[in-house]
Amino acid sequence: MTATMDENRVTIFDTTLRDGEQSPGASMDMAEKLKIALFLEEMGVDVIEAGFPIASAGDFEAVHQIANTLKNVTVCALSRADRGDIECCAAAIAPAPRRRIHTFISTSALHMKYKLRMTPEQVHERVGESVRYARTFTDDVEWSAEDGSRTDSDFLCRCVEAAIRAGARTINIPDTVGYAIPDEFSSRIAMLLNRVPNIDRAILSVHCHNDLGLAVANALAAVQAGARQVECTLNGLGERAGNAALEEIVMALRTRYDHLPFTTGIKTELITRASKLVSAITGFVVQPNKAIVGANAFAHEAGIHQDGLLKHAATYEIMPPEAVGLSQAKIVLGKHSGRRAFREKVRTLLGYELSEHALEEAFRRFKDLADRKKEIFEEDLTALVGDELAQGLQGEDRIRFGTLEVMCGSRHPSADLELVIDGVVQGVSATGNGPIDAIFIAIRAIFPHAARLQLYQVHAVTQGTDAQAEVTVRLEENGRSVNGYGADTDTLVASARAYVNALNRLLVKREKTAPTALSA
Ligand code: KIV
Ligand code: ZN
Repeated sequence: MTATMDENRVTIFDTTLRDGEQSPGASMDMAEKLKIALFLEEMGVDVIEAGFPIASAGDFEAVHQIANTLKNVTVCALSRADRGDIECCAAAIAPAPRRRIHTFISTSALHMKYKLRMTPEQVHERVGESVRYARTFTDDVEWSAEDGSRTDSDFLCRCVEAAIRAGARTINIPDTVGYAIPDEFSSRIAMLLNRVPNIDRAILSVHCHNDLGLAVANALAAVQAGARQVECTLNGLGERAGNAALEEIVMALRTRYDHLPFTTGIKTELITRASKLVSAITGFVVQPNKAIVGANAFAHEAGIHQDGLLKHAATYEIMPPEAVGLSQAKIVLGKHSGRRAFREKVRTLLGYELSEHALEEAFRRFKDLADRKKEIFEEDLTALVGDELAQGLQGEDRIRFGTLEVMCGSRHPSADLELVIDGVVQGVSATGNGPIDAIFIAIRAIFPHAARLQLYQVHAVTQGTDAQAEVTVRLEENGRSVNGYGADTDTLVASARAYVNALNRLLVKREKTAPTALSA
């Protein structure tokens, strides 16, 4: 049989906002989720798993908001094989023009016996019931066999058959615990395609975890065996060791089309920006040698490699950096650039349309930066505008950064800090075990709170000692975490701004009320 293009099109199902968000510490608020969802849509993802609505009021609200906003992508939400879960899921995705319910139940002997305490027959029955019920809300239903890679083959075939009979259009086989080996996993997919009656009525999908570092290899092996949907996340975010990384799957398919003749709808030039967005929002740094999106992924250090590259790029480069949206660090603006040029750069380079107020403030800070730093790179602009957007994300922030003077060195580090609280300037001096400690103690003295510091992270935006520092601060209160973000050429100022930003977000989170759909 000659395969047509469509038969070789792989559906990209992104679960950064659901499985990715399950990584400890990666929780995102609604505005952040929406921002990522909009970017995924622009990038050409086919299905966005926006959350697990029954898990919390916040999850429900985020899925609902995403379903209300996105028009060109399928919005999916997860539910257990339970009527209440499915109803909640259906209500959350209702506004989306294209919506999918993803319902799952464990099928491995281990999970059925110890986790579900159900017999195989009960599970089998529940598969049909749950899919049938989900189909009363939407035609697009996906069914997953949790722990599918460790499920008895005969039983898996029976469950898949029942799900298809009940109306599932996508059948997902997760390697929930990241246990599979590529040739074994591809045989499992081939086995299902050979044995299950009516398997051609559904798309086979895979969802691979990375506990043995094999998630991407397993997913690609499954595609070679006939799977046509891959579930993945940006930067490989996800439970434990994470999920198959979207960028690695997509670039492997694109770069090795000779061996893997499959296509996706992803605009690969947006991959780098997508990765940075997720990293900035979650505070999860991408390791420098991470494939595709690590800072060193396209850097050539060895002289012999650089020499080869200069003679012919293909000697050491299997894909052009531009294919993932990487460009040489370019000077984009200078000290004499005006407001109009600044606005234009922000719009064309970063895709942001700033409000008049935010533009004024960002421009003032840009001028200030240009005074301190000779060359302003694209990365500088991204950090500065990102900081401005972070500060403005909550509307009228109650706490604003004022001024900071720090004494540091080997004796008694201290910080003199002024914050503006509800419009009133308040100042304090504090000492600590180092300048950052002194600053954070000063913030707590001015604005007492019980939130715990979970993460403090600094990243240099560009090279050189005059580089801006991007700081992420994560605060936790009553099991809820928020990330704050700040950027400045002075690491200490950036740290104070990031902490204040996290505090403002925490205040907004505290004020939030449950959505009516769940509290009714
Ligand atoms: O890993 C897993 O099995 C899952 C399912 C809910 C699809 O995330
Ligand atoms: Zn998973």
